[in-house]
Amino acid sequence: MDFKTQYSFFLQQIENRILEVIPQSAPNELYEPFRYIMKEGGKRLRPVITLIGCGISGEDPLKALDSAVAIEILHNFTLVHDDIMDNSPLRRGRQTIHEKWNSAIAILTGDVMIGYAYKLLPSSTNHSRADEILSIFSKELIEVCEGQVFDMVFNEKKDVTIADYINMIDKKTARLIETSAVIGAHIGFGDSIEIDAMKNIAHNIGLAFQIQDDLLDMTANQADFGKKIGKDVVEGKKTYLILKAVELVNDTLDRQLIDKFMNNNGLDECEVIDMDNLFRKYRIYETAQCEIDKYFATAESFYPKLKKNMYTDMLKWLVSSINKRII
Ligand code: IPE
Ligand code: IPE
Ligand code: MG
Ligand code: MG
Ligand code: MG
Repeated sequence: MDFKTQYSFFLQQIENRILEVIPQSAPNELYEPFRYIMKEGGKRLRPVITLIGCGISGEDPLKALDSAVAIEILHNFTLVHDDIMDNSPLRRGRQTIHEKWNSAIAILTGDVMIGYAYKLLPSSTNHSRADEILSIFSKELIEVCEGQVFDMVFNEKKDVTIADYINMIDKKTARLIETSAVIGAHIGFGDSIEIDAMKNIAHNIGLAFQIQDDLLDMTANQADFGKKIGKDVVEGKKTYLILKAVELVNDTLDRQLIDKFMNNNGLDECEVIDMDNLFRKYRIYETAQCEIDKYFATAESFYPKLKKNMYTDMLKWLVSSINKRII
């Protein structure tokens, strides 16, 4: 089986299990938005990484299926609440929950999703590392909230550095990708060396992934990306692109645009094009791509520490597919 076919097989297993675990019962006001957000459409990268992590450790990847689905539900919970915080109208090409329903429903849907995610984790009666897995999962939930609050408070802060940014995306994005790999590896009874290697790989993929998301927020085609283009500039987000521009801008007019962004907490929608021109002038997109490549290369440097088996090869394929954004 080639990796693409194996990936499709994993996706099918994940989709089937998602359908089984989301309640079809009342109250519909809660479970309809839950079903809506979990409907096929996401890339399912995190649960696939969990299955691969389990496979690399030497067990049948599908032993980690419930934990993989728990992680995907937790990820989707972060998206539902993130979309409220970011005033985002679109996700995966469809209306966000707070737009289609309202914010109260979106908050509650997110809350109930956390409960369902926890229910799917192993218990000490069926896995000897259940306590450790539970604690890793809780730690991740806490850290994603910390990362999200940094993301929020950075809006008001004018002196955010690239180091602050990396710390913020480490928590809001990389940690869940790390958790996905590490929980998979624990389900597969991985040893500390391979768990550590997987953690490092996933950490670097996570950082690359968020910088790529910041880049795509400006450069992607909206229909493919499924989210509104230019939203980070409108919302005043301290993305990698803006922070790099702050470092490189050397012209008074360009400086004025950056100052306006900083002082007004973002720009009007009609000014996104001006920021795009500024980013192009200072080759910010190329610089961001170099940074993304750097983190992917660091991830790859840990490959020799993994067991040699088909799932390690599949992880390599997956990482290069994420890098090229062909999945
Ligand atoms: C979106 O994650 C949130 C970020 C961390 C950038 P994905 O790009 O993995 O979203 P889906 O699940 O595929 O829609
Ligand atoms: C994602 O950051 C972080 C989460 C924890 C959800 P973004 O706010 O950039 O994600 P998108 O672009 O809305 O998916
Ligand atoms: Mg956000
Ligand atoms: Mg967002
Ligand atoms: Mg984004």
